[in-house]
Amino acid sequence: MRLLVTGGAGFIGSNFVHLTRQMFPEVRLTVLDALTYAGTLRSLQGVEDDIRFVKGDIADRELVNRLVGEHDVVVHFAAESHNDNSLREPWPFVATNIVGTFNLLEAVRDHDVRYHHISTDEVYGDLELDDPARFTETTAYNPSSPYSSTKGASDLLVRAWVRSFGVRATISNCSNNYGPRQHVEKFIPRQITNVIDGQRPKLYGDGLNVRDWIHVDDHNSAVWTIIERGQIGQTYLIGADGEKNNLDVVRLILAGMGKDPQDFDHVVDRPGHDRRYAIDSTRLRTELGWRPQYSDFESGLAATIDWYRSNEAWWRPEKDATEYRYATAGAI
Ligand code: NAD
Ligand code: DAU
Repeated sequence: MRLLVTGGAGFIGSNFVHLTRQMFPEVRLTVLDALTYAGTLRSLQGVEDDIRFVKGDIADRELVNRLVGEHDVVVHFAAESHNDNSLREPWPFVATNIVGTFNLLEAVRDHDVRYHHISTDEVYGDLELDDPARFTETTAYNPSSPYSSTKGASDLLVRAWVRSFGVRATISNCSNNYGPRQHVEKFIPRQITNVIDGQRPKLYGDGLNVRDWIHVDDHNSAVWTIIERGQIGQTYLIGADGEKNNLDVVRLILAGMGKDPQDFDHVVDRPGHDRRYAIDSTRLRTELGWRPQYSDFESGLAATIDWYRSNEAWWRPEKDATEYRYATAGAI
C-alpha cells in the first residue's frame, strides 16, 4: 500500500507515522506537511530514512492532485488545530481546514483514491456537566469556535463528496489526545513544561471543564481499524471513556511531578469555552471490534511527563514563543 499522510510532522500525524512503521513496515509512507509553527521534522526522527517527506501546503491544489495520484490511500491529519489561535486569527483555519480539505477531496475524486478524514468531537459543540448524554454519530453538529466550525465544515464537504461523487471516504471524530510530541501550546504539555520551568500551571476559568482524554496511540490504532475495516461513507467516533475535568488533570500533573497539587493559577477563561465533551464509541467497538489499550489515564500521563522530561530538545525551541503568544493575547 502507498499511503499519503497529511500533517505527518504534527502531533497525531507523527505518532501515526511511527506506529505505522512498527505495525506495517511494508506500507510505503509519504508525509505531506507545510511545517507550520506546529510541525517539525524533529517529530519524524528515527523514521526519516524509511519515509518520503514532502514539504508543501494542502492549499496548493496542483501539488495535492499530483501527490494523491501517486498513492492508494490518503489519511488527512493536516489542520490548524488550536482553539486559542483560531480566536485570535481565524483565516488560516478557513484556508487549511476548509480549502485544504476541498483540494484533497477533489484529488481523491479525480484519482479514485481511498480517503480517511481525521476530525474532532468539537464539531458537536458541548454538553452540560450534569447531562448524562454523550456524543454519538447522530448528534447534530453545533460547533462553538472558528477551529471547530472549520472542522465541521470540512466533515460536511467529505459527506457531500461521498454522496454526490461516490468518493470512497470515512470520517472519524476523536476526543482530546495526549501523549508524546504534542505542541507546548496545548493544555497538558503546556502545564508539564511550565512545571519543568518553575512556572505555575494556568487553568482557564473555574477549571471544571471536562475533556474526554485518549492516548494518541489509541486514536491511531482506531484510525488503522477504520482504514482496514470501516464502511465507506460512515462516521466513527473515537474515545476511550476518559472524562476528567481540567482541575483534576492539573492536580495530577503537579502531584506526578512532585509539586503541591494546589500550586497553580486560575486565569481568565477562553471566550466561548466548551464545557464538556464526552464520546460514545459503541459503533467503533461493536461494528469494527476496536478497543483502547491505555485504560489508565494516570499511568499514560506519567509516561507523558517522563517523555517531556527526557525530550527537552524537542519542545524547548517552541516554549518561549508559545508563552509569548499567550502573554500578548491578554488573558490566556
Ligand atoms: P498539530 O497542530 O499538532 O499538527 C498539524 C500538522 O499539520 C502540523 O505538522 C502542521 O505543520 C501541518 N499543517 C498545518 N497546516 C498545513 C497546511 N496548510 N498544509 C500542510 N500541512 C499543514 O495537530 P494535531 O493535534 O496533531 O491534530 C491533527 C488532526 O487531528 C487535526 O485534523 C485535528 O483537527 C484532529 N484532532 C486533534 C485532536 C487533538 O486532541 N489534538 C483530537 C481530535 C482530532
Ligand atoms: O476535543 C478534541 C480537541 O481537543 C481537538 O480537536 C483540538 O485540536 C485540540 O486542541 C483539543 O482542543 P481543546 O481546546 O479541548 O484543547 P486544549 O489543549 O487547548 O485545552 C484543553 C482544556 O484545557 C480546555 O478546556 C482549555 C483548558 N486549558 C487550556 C490551556 C492551553 C487551560 O485551562 N489552560 C491552558 O493553558
